This record gives sequence, C-alpha cells and structure tokens, in this order.
Amino acid sequence: MMSIAFIWAVVVGFCCCLWLVLGIRRRQPGEPPVENGWIPYLGCALQFGSNPLEFLRSRQRKYGHIFTCKIAGDYVHFLCDPFSYHSVIRQGRHLDWKKFHFATSVKAFGHQSMDPSHGYTTENLHQTFLKTLQGEALTSLIDNMMENLQGVMLQSDTLKVSSDWEVDGIFAFCYKVMFQSGYLTLFGKELGKGDKMQARQEAQKALVLSALENFKEFDKIFPALVAGLPIHVFKSGHSARENLTKSMLHENLSKRENMSDLISLRMLLNDTLSTFNDTSKARTHVALLWASQANTLPATFWTLFYMIRSPDAIRAAREEVQAILESSNQKADPKKPCLILTREQLDNMTVLDSIIKEAMRLSSASLNVRVAKEDFLLHLDNKESYVIRKDDVIALYPQLLHFDPEIYEDPLTFKYDRYLDENGQEKNVFYREGRKLRYYYMPFGSGVTKCPGRFFAVHEIKQFLTLLLCYFDMELVESDLKAPPLDQSRAGLGILQPTYDVDFKYKLKAQ
Ligand code: HEM
Repeated sequence: MMSIAFIWAVVVGFCCCLWLVLGIRRRQPGEPPVENGWIPYLGCALQFGSNPLEFLRSRQRKYGHIFTCKIAGDYVHFLCDPFSYHSVIRQGRHLDWKKFHFATSVKAFGHQSMDPSHGYTTENLHQTFLKTLQGEALTSLIDNMMENLQGVMLQSDTLKVSSDWEVDGIFAFCYKVMFQSGYLTLFGKELGKGDKMQARQEAQKALVLSALENFKEFDKIFPALVAGLPIHVFKSGHSARENLTKSMLHENLSKRENMSDLISLRMLLNDTLSTFNDTSKARTHVALLWASQANTLPATFWTLFYMIRSPDAIRAAREEVQAILESSNQKADPKKPCLILTREQLDNMTVLDSIIKEAMRLSSASLNVRVAKEDFLLHLDNKESYVIRKDDVIALYPQLLHFDPEIYEDPLTFKYDRYLDENGQEKNVFYREGRKLRYYYMPFGSGVTKCPGRFFAVHEIKQFLTLLLCYFDMELVESDLKAPPLDQSRAGLGILQPTYDVDFKYKLKAQ
C-alpha cells in the first residue's frame, strides 16, 4: 500500500517538475512581464474567459501597458495602450494576420483550408470580400435589403401587424426580421413561376425560418468550436451546421435568383480556383452566413433597445427620419411598403449613425489578433521596445478603450449623441490625456482584417430603424428598465448578446 502511494507521489512530483521546466516561460531580457497561470496548458485561460475586461484591467494596473499571458498553450502579448495600436499596424510585416483567421474558420465551419499556402485554393479571399461588399456591390446590397426588410416586416406573416399593440421580445423581433431579410439579400430567392409560385413562396419562407433555427443552434456552440473543442461533442449544434451545409450545396444555391455578388462570386471561385469538395464549398457559404449575421443581430438588438429606452434618442431619430422622407417626397404606407433610401441619404443620417455607434461601443468585445512571423522588436508609442518571439500572439482588446473614462466620460451610460459634433455632424475627434486618438472606436477590428462588411452592416441597421420609425409606434413594456447584462461567454468574438430578452410593444402608426 505504502509503495503504491510512494510511486504515485514520485510520478506526480516528476510531472510537476517537468511542467516547471518545460511548460512555463521565463521572462528574458527585453520581453514584457509574463504570467504563466497555474493550470498546465490552459494558463490564464479560465480567468481571462470569465471576465476579460476585469482580467486585463487588473493586469494593466500590475504590469503596465504590455504584458504576456499564457492562454490555451499560446503566449499572448496584450497591448493596452491605444496610442500603441498603430504601432502594431505599422509593424505588420512581422505579423501574420491570416494564419489565425484561416485556422479559426476551419475549426468552426469544417471546410478545407482557404489558406492558399495549403494548396486547396489560389483565391485571394480578402480581395473577394472587398469587391463584393464595398463599392458598387454595396449599392445593390442596400437596395435589396430595403426591399426585403419591408417585405418581411409588412408583407409576410412574420410580424403581427395591426393598429393594436403587439408585445414581443426585442431580441426575438430583431432576429426574425433581420435574419430573414439579410438571408434573402445575400442568398436570393427561389421564386418559381405560374401556379406553383404561391407554394414556392411558402416553401421559401419555411427554408429561411429553418435556417434561422439552425443558425441559432450552431451559433450557441461557436465559442466552444473556436476554443478548439470538436463539433462531434455537440449533437444538436453539429446537426444544425450539417443542415445549413446541405441547404447551401451548390446544386441548391444555383436554383436561387437575385443572389448577391458575395455569394455568386464565392460559388464561381469555389468552382474555378479551388479543389474543394462539394461539402467544403457549401461550408464556405455557411461561414459567410455566420459572418453576416452573428454580430449584426445582437448589434441590432442593442441599437433598438437603447433607442427606444431613451426619449431623447427616439425623438431625434424620428425627426431625422421625417426630414429624409419629406426631402424625398415619400410617405410611409404600410399597404404599399416601397420606401427607398439612397446610399447618400443613409450616409447623411448622422443621428442614427451615432445611436448605432454608441450601442455598439457598449456591447462590443472583439479581440484583434496577430501572430509573430519571426522574432522581432515591437516599438511602442512611448518609445519603449519589447522582444517578441516567433509564433507568439499579439492581441488588442478594444473594449478597454470603449470603456475608458478618460476617452468616454461616464462610459457605462448610453448617450445617443456621443458621436455627434456641435453641428450635428459625425464627431471623430476623441482625446486621451490631452492627445488626439487615432483609434477610439473599434467594433469592426483594425488594419487589414477590419470587417469588410462594416458599411453594409451599419446601413442595414439604419434601414431597419428607419422603417420601424416610419411604420410603427414602439414602447418598452417597462419604461425605466435597466440594460440587461452582457453575456460574457462570447467575449472576444464581437458583439455580445444580452443575458435575457426585453419586451417591447409595437403597433402600426395611425395614418
Ligand atoms: C455589426 C455587425 C458586424 C460586426 C461588429 C462585425 C465585426 C467583424 C470583426 C471584428 C471581424 C474580424 C476582424 C479582425 O479579425 O480584425 C469581422 C470579419 C468579417 N466580417 Fe464582419 N462584422 C459585422 C457585420 C458583417 C456583415 C454584415 C458582413 C457581410 C455581409 C460581414 C463580413 C465579414 C467577413 C467576410 C469577415 C472576415 C474578413 C476576413 O477574414 O478577411 N461582417 N467582422
């Protein structure tokens, strides 16, 4: 008995020594302070994951603007000084932005690698996104979205539309309206002709609603997949992803009409530049569905919630929308919903823009990540330099600056006009310690990996708000409600969801 206990003690002792020798990093001269954490491999992952903002603030107080933490096997250098964000972007030649993104996409969506160096495709994905989400392509995305939003809100039975109050959760409302409209805008419609048209339209709606259910189920397990857990562990999340994949096989997508350039070019390049199998091709479309919806939906929730809750915000937004309609001689008629807003008009809606920005400032928690291609010296804004080792990760966590009281006075409070200057135009000058900041608002990331869909995202939320304000009266069921807490389980991945839904009521405006 004694000898078995002794053998165990030796084995455990040996493992501990091995971990101390091999598993922890000792700070070398010129390197940032390092924290290995107490758990082998995971390091500080659990503490970071439970509340990233608090974790980073406490380490910033202890170590200063740059420090290194072991997180799930990687050494991550957190850079907390917003003036140094530009240093990372300027020294981009030492950093690889693709490796992490390509690997994450493979883990989450299960397609073959889209990294050209792995040999499955020669496509320049970044260029494809810019070409199909910005410039001319953006105009047609916006036009189609406007039509689809009005169709979903007023010409389908998605909403109960009448002159009596209807109660719904804001989150549930935003999800069904925005998901369906966004889905139809990207993936088009299977229209059909003649007698079968009605039946096809019903089938069409059922398909989009089933995609929404599958999307929600898959989205729940997304953080776990990014963390590296295999999808087979999650039965319903796995089958949800498989259902989405089946619906996006090229043989199914090719029956659809009025598809966006984003998806039609994706199909063409999958077929011509890649050796992907059919399932992988379909999964690249699932990845785009997720990218287009996963942040937009919670961002829409927060924007609508904060706008309705603030009497000043909704009044200013109503006035702006009214002025736009009057200047373009349009009248909202729910029986013939065909309002049109040009890109220029949308761009000029500075009040809605500020409301959206402020709502996203309060709810965004993205992590901007780069991997060091080689050992190099990172020069910071304050003239300090730090040695960075090859394969280490450099991370920016912009929530630190979004909640910094020196940049944003009273940072936890929603102020609808925070991003408006004294002339009602976009305010883009913010200071810290008396110095003008280059980076003060980053829910869309930074540098070369900055979200290519950001213009479409903001425009579609503006369209959604405009249409709601034109056609409906809206009120919170409980008027002086506190904002629901942010669900931290998705911290690092973008806009956080609320931990619970909030009820509001809506009815058609009296004509
Ligand atoms: C409020 C809404 C949105 C937010 C907050 C958001 C945020 C982000 C962020 C933080 C990234 C990663 C950037 C980085 O790693 O530095 C990203 C990437 C991306 N987003 Fe968005 N996004 C939104 C909406 C959209 C929409 C509507 C689309 C498309 C229709 C879209 C398409 C993409 C794509 C394709 C990428 C990957 C880019 C690449 O790897 O080169 N996003 N987004």
